[in-house]
Amino acid sequence: MSSVDVAIVGATGVVGETILRVLEERGVAVGQVGRFASRARDGVQATTLEALAPYPVVFFASTEDASAEYAPALVKRGAVVIDNSATFRMTEGVPLVIPEVNPDAVAREHRLFPVANCTAIILCTALAPVRDAAGLRAVRVATYQAASGAGRAGLDELLAGERALANGDPEPAATVFPRPLARNVVPQIGGFDASGYTGEERKVREETRKMLGLPELFVSATTVRVPVRTAHSEAVWFETERETSVEELAAACARAPGVVFHRDGIVTPREVEGTDLVHVARLHAEEDGATRHFMLWCVGDQLRKGAATNAVQILELLLERGFV
Ligand SMILES: NC(=O)c1ccc[n+]([C@@H]2O[C@H](COP(=O)([O-])OP(=O)(O)OC[C@H]3O[C@@H](n4cnc5c(N)ncnc54)[C@H](OP(=O)(O)O)[C@@H]3O)[C@@H](O)[C@H]2O)c1
Repeated sequence: MSSVDVAIVGATGVVGETILRVLEERGVAVGQVGRFASRARDGVQATTLEALAPYPVVFFASTEDASAEYAPALVKRGAVVIDNSATFRMTEGVPLVIPEVNPDAVAREHRLFPVANCTAIILCTALAPVRDAAGLRAVRVATYQAASGAGRAGLDELLAGERALANGDPEPAATVFPRPLARNVVPQIGGFDASGYTGEERKVREETRKMLGLPELFVSATTVRVPVRTAHSEAVWFETERETSVEELAAACARAPGVVFHRDGIVTPREVEGTDLVHVARLHAEEDGATRHFMLWCVGDQLRKGAATNAVQILELLLERGFV
C-alpha cells in the first residue's frame, strides 16, 4: 500500500502527541509526518496555510480558532481534515464518526471529519450494542472526567495542586478549572446556559444523538471533573425502546466491536489508561424485574479512544476504502 503524508496541528499538545504515538503503534502507512503548533521550535513548525498545503491529510488537535481558520481552506484544496475540536461537529452534512458505531456515515465525497467529544465517543461506543439489541429511548449520564481532558494545562494544574498539598505548600490558584481539582470534585465543565446545563453537557446530548442516529433521543448529562490524570468514567442510566433483559444486553455488549465487557466486577480509569477500547461493567436492571430500565458503568482513555485513536481509525477507514 502506498503511504500518505500527514500533518498534525497541535503536535506539542496531549492529543497531538498521542496521535503521533498511535499512528506509529498501529503501523498506519504514513509517509512524511509534519508537526505544527502555535510557534516554531525543535522539529515543530509554526502553523500557516502555506506550510500545511502540501499535506493530503491534516489532523487538528489544537484550538477551535485554528480549525476554523485553516480547515475550510484545506478542504477546498482537496485535503482530508480530521479535526479534534468542536468547531464542525454539528455542521449539517458533516459526518461524526466512530468507526465501530457508524462507519457508514462516511462517503467518498466527505473531506472534513470532526472527531466527537471524548465523553460522547465513550458513551456511544458503550451504548451502540444496546441501541442495536433493544432500541434506546432515554439516556441519563453522570461523568467522572480526567484532568487531561482539559489539555496539558489541565493536567499540569492538577499535578501542581497535588504536589503543593503533599508538601504543605500554598496551593496554586485554579485557572483551568473553576475550583482547585486536587483532592476535589468539580461539577462544571464549560459555561452554563439558561437551562442550567454546561457546554460539555450540551455537546454530550447533541453529539450522542447525531452519532447514534437518534435525533429525538432524550439525553441528560451531568459532567464532573475528578482528580484523575487520564481516562473518563461514566455512570449511565438508560431506557430501552423494547422490553429486554440483562442477559440479552450482556450478550450484545460482549460481542460489540471496540468494547471490553466485564460481566462481573468493576473497572477503573487507571486500569484503562493507555488502551484503545471502551470498558463496560456493572450492567444491571435499575430495579428487580425491570425490562426497560438499566444501568451500566463505562470507562475509556479519552486521549486515545476519545480523541487520537478515533482520529487515526478514521484515517484507517478512509485508506481501507480508497477514499484518500
Ligand atoms: N484533552 C482531551 O482529552 C481531548 C479530548 C477530545 C478532544 N480534545 C480536543 O483536542 C484539541 C487539542 O486538545 P489538547 O487537550 O491536546 O490541548 P493542549 O494539550 O492544550 O494542546 C494544544 C495544542 O494546540 C497548539 N495550538 C494552540 N494554539 C494554536 C494555534 N493558533 N495554531 C496552531 N496550534 C495551536 C498548541 O501549541 P503550542 O505548544 O505552541 O501552544 C498545542 O500543541 C482541542 O480542540 C480539544 O478540545 C481534547
